[in-house]
Amino acid sequence: MAKKTSTRTLQRMRDEGTPISMITAYDATFAALFERAGVDAILVGDSLGNVVQGRGTTLPVTVDEIIYHTAAVVRGTERVHVVADLPFGSYGVSTAESVANACRVMKESGAHAVKLEGGRRMAELVDQIVGIGVPVMGHLGFTPQSVHAFGGHYVQGRGTAADDLVADALALEAAGAYAIVLELVPAPVAARVTEALRIPTIGIGAGNATSGQVLVCYDMLGMNDAFSPKFLKKYADLSGVIRGATEAYVREVRDRTYPDAEHAFED
Ligand code: KIV
Repeated sequence: MAKKTSTRTLQRMRDEGTPISMITAYDATFAALFERAGVDAILVGDSLGNVVQGRGTTLPVTVDEIIYHTAAVVRGTERVHVVADLPFGSYGVSTAESVANACRVMKESGAHAVKLEGGRRMAELVDQIVGIGVPVMGHLGFTPQSVHAFGGHYVQGRGTAADDLVADALALEAAGAYAIVLELVPAPVAARVTEALRIPTIGIGAGNATSGQVLVCYDMLGMNDAFSPKFLKKYADLSGVIRGATEAYVREVRDRTYPDAEHAFED
């Protein structure tokens, strides 16, 4: 069996200049396919609130739901590094509760790390969670749990805000974060943050100078025709494939060509 991808592997990849590929997954079947395709890390993102639950934001996602989906991903994989999102409200309110929630996610899901959103204001908490042995991935730039504070989905870190982004990233690194997601950040700013850090950066809508990339799997596979932000490349048209296959199934059920003799049991 191939060696497990760990936080050390990701750091080595960053040091060697080997780009890290991360993708989201929410169930065992997709996760197994992504592992077989060679991804380095799987993020069980709270984006499951959008793409699995059909919600408008990630805010309602619960710790129980993250544990449920992460445990499925862990069961479906052997080698890949699995990161579980800490959902909105499960951290940052009280330190004790935040640390307890991070422990719960690790114990009950089998994740290898947790991810949380926020910069300098989260540094002390990151230090506490890392201190009890839980690897923490940071998340800066556009942080979806703060969508209402941002007033929508806007690129972050432009102009003087770039200095704040660098300061946030350095604070997370100093607190012990092992990697940082940079979301919706101008490419030159993401490059600057990446240069300033020793730990890997993983970009989504942040250009190609980051140490790696992450995409939401439903988006990358083209499962939602209505979602086409500038940064997104659709590597497949699964919505077309699924629609075509389902239409064929419905047609064959209606005209009784399915099941034919080949797909029926004999006496
Ligand atoms: O929840 C998620 O899928 C994420 C990615 C967008 C990085 O946080």
